[in-house]
Amino acid sequence: MFPRNSGTWFVFFLLISPTILYKAMSDEDRWAAKKKRMSDKVRKMFYHAYDNYMIYAFPHDELKPLTKTYTNSLVELGNLRLEHLPPEYNGSALTLIESLSSLVIMGNNTEFERAVLWLSENLTFDIDARINLFECNIRVLGGLVSAHILATDSTNRLVQGKYKKQLLNLAEDLGHRFLPAFDTPTGLPYAWINLKYGVMEHETTETSTSGCGSLILEMGVLSQLTGDPRFESAALRALRKLWSMRSSLNLLGTTLDVGTGEWLEYSSGIGAGVDSFYEYLVKAYIIFGRDEFWRMFQSAYLAVEKYFKHGSWYHEADMRTGQPTYLQLTSLQAFWPGLQVLVGDIAAANSSHREFFSVWERFGVLPERYLLDRQMLHPTEKYYPLRPELAESTFYLYHATKDPWYLEVGESIVNSLNSYTKVEGGFASIRDVTTMQLEDHQHSFFLAETCKYLYLLFDDSFLVDRNYIFTTEGHPFPVVSAWHERLPEAYIPTYWTDVRDERQAKRASPMSLQVCPATALKSGLGGEQVESACHIPDVRADHRCLVEKDCGVDATTCRRRSCSMAGYCGLWWA
Ligand SMILES: *[C@@H]1O[C@H](CO)[C@@H](O)[C@H](O)[C@H]1NC(C)=O
Ligand SMILES: *[C@@H]1O[C@H](CO)[C@@H](O)[C@H](O)[C@H]1NC(C)=O
Ligand SMILES: *[C@@H]1O[C@H](CO)[C@@H](O)[C@H](O)[C@H]1NC(C)=O
Ligand SMILES: *[C@@H]1O[C@H](CO)[C@@H](O)[C@H](O)[C@H]1NC(C)=O
Repeated sequence: MFPRNSGTWFVFFLLISPTILYKAMSDEDRWAAKKKRMSDKVRKMFYHAYDNYMIYAFPHDELKPLTKTYTNSLVELGNLRLEHLPPEYNGSALTLIESLSSLVIMGNNTEFERAVLWLSENLTFDIDARINLFECNIRVLGGLVSAHILATDSTNRLVQGKYKKQLLNLAEDLGHRFLPAFDTPTGLPYAWINLKYGVMEHETTETSTSGCGSLILEMGVLSQLTGDPRFESAALRALRKLWSMRSSLNLLGTTLDVGTGEWLEYSSGIGAGVDSFYEYLVKAYIIFGRDEFWRMFQSAYLAVEKYFKHGSWYHEADMRTGQPTYLQLTSLQAFWPGLQVLVGDIAAANSSHREFFSVWERFGVLPERYLLDRQMLHPTEKYYPLRPELAESTFYLYHATKDPWYLEVGESIVNSLNSYTKVEGGFASIRDVTTMQLEDHQHSFFLAETCKYLYLLFDDSFLVDRNYIFTTEGHPFPVVSAWHERLPEAYIPTYWTDVRDERQAKRASPMSLQVCPATALKSGLGGEQVESACHIPDVRADHRCLVEKDCGVDATTCRRRSCSMAGYCGLWWA
C-alpha cells in the first residue's frame, strides 16, 4: 500500500498507466465516491416517492402509484377485512407526517418547514375514524413527536416565531384520544379505537404482543415533553402486564385477549405480531435508562436465542414448551440483526443478516414468507410491500463494522428497488416476487424507513455528534439525560479512567457533570441541555477485542462494553 497523498508516487504512476493510477486512488476514496453516488441515488428515490405523493395523493394518506391516485389508508392499516370504514374520512396526510424526519435527515429544511406549518394549521384528529392503536402510534404519534423535537432543537430549522409547538399539541391531543383504549380490566389496550368516539361497541378484544408492547417509546416521550404522566403510565402498565404473562421459559405468544389477559395464540417468533416488543424493551432502556427495561430485554433476548434460533435463522416456537412450530422466514424478522447490533452481538447479527440477504438475492427482493424446511415460498404470502427491515439492519451493521461489504448490500437493495418497483407515479409494492407483478400501493413507511435507512447507510452526517434512537417506524428520538430516571452506574467516572488514556478519560469524566462535551449539542430541546451521553469508542473500529480493555463505553446506555467469547465488544456481556 502506498501513502495516499504522496506527490512523488503520484507523478510516477502518471507516467506508467491510467489503470495503476486508478489503483493509486485508495480504497477509502473509492468507497467515499460510492457513498456519495449512492446517497444521491437514494435521495432521488425519496423525492420521486414524495413528489408524486404530494401531486397525486396529499392530503390523503398514501399514494397509489400505478393509477396516480390516493388511499385514505390510516383507517385500513391492520384492518384486513376492511371493517367499519368511515364514509366521511378524507385522510390525515399520513405520508407527509411520515416524511418529516426524512426531510430533515436529507437536509431539506424548507420543505420540512412548509410541511410543519401545513400540518399545524390543517391536521385534526377530531374525526370519526376507527384506527389501529399500534399503527397510529408508531406512524402518526411517533412522526409528530419526532418532528416536534427536530423543529425545536438547536439547529433553527424553522423560521423563527412561526412554530409554536403545534405538532406537540397535535400529538398530545392524539395521545388523549388513545387513553380510553387502555380502559380494560387488564390495562392491556384494545387494538382499535375510534378517534372521535373512543372504543366502539362490541369492539374485538383480540390484540397482538407488539400491539400492547410497542407503545412505551412514543407515549413515554410524549409524557416527558408535555409533563402529563398519563401516556407513559398507560403504556408502562400495559407492558408490565404483558411481561407478567410470559411463560416459565420467558417466552410470549403472539395474540391475546385484552379483557381476560389470556393468550389466544401460543406460537410466536421474532416476526409479525411480536417484533417491536423486543425492539422497544432495549430502546426504552436506552431512552429512559430504567434497569427494569434492560432486565426484561435480557431475559427475553436470551429466550429468543435459546428457543427460536435455528442455525443462522429464527423459527417460531410454542411459548409453553419451546417446541418449534413453524420453520419460516418472514420478511419482518430482518430487523433482528439491527437490534443485535444495538446490544453488541455483532457476529450473530452478521450471520443472520447474510441469510436474509441470500434470500433477497435469490428473489431480487425479500418475500413476505419463506418456508425454510421446504426451501420454498409460502403459497399466498409472496409479496414484497417495499419493506425496510433488511435495509435497516444493513445500516446498523455497516456503521458498527465499517465493513464496505454492507455498502454493496445497500447498493444491491437500491438497484432492486429501482428496477422492479419504480414506476412513473412513484414506487409500487410487489404482489408476487416470482413474477414481479406490481400492486398499486406506496406505503408511507417506504418514505419513513426504507429510503431513510438506505440514505443513512451512505450518508450518516445527520448522526454525527448526535445520539438518536430510531423508533420502529424510523423516527428519530434523541437520547437526553433529562429523560433518564437516574444515571446508569457506568456514569461514575472512576469506573473507566484506569483503562483509558488521559484524553479519553477527560472525554468521559464530564459525565459527572452529566454532559459529554465532545458530543453535546450547542443548546437543547427547549433550553435544556441535550447530550449524547458518554462515549468511548472501542479500540478497534471493527469492534473486535481480545481483552476487556479493548472495549469502550456505549454511547447510548453509558454502560461499559465488554468483550464477548466471540471476540466482539458489546453491551451484552457487561
Ligand atoms: C370528505 O370529502 C367529502 C367529499 O369532498 C365531503 O363531502 C366530506 O364532508 C368530507 N369529510 C370530512 C369529514 O371533511
Ligand atoms: C426540498 O423538497 C422540495 C419538494 O420536493 C424540492 O422542490 C426542493 O428542491 C428540495 N430542496 C432541497 C434542498 O433538496
Ligand atoms: C391549510 O390547508 C389549506 C387548504 O389546503 C391551505 O390553503 C393552507 O395554506 C394550509 N395552511 C398552511 C399553513 O399551509
Ligand atoms: C461476517 O461474516 C462473513 C462470512 O462468514 C465474514 O467473512 C465476516 O468477517 C463477518 N463480519 C463480521 C463483522 O463479523
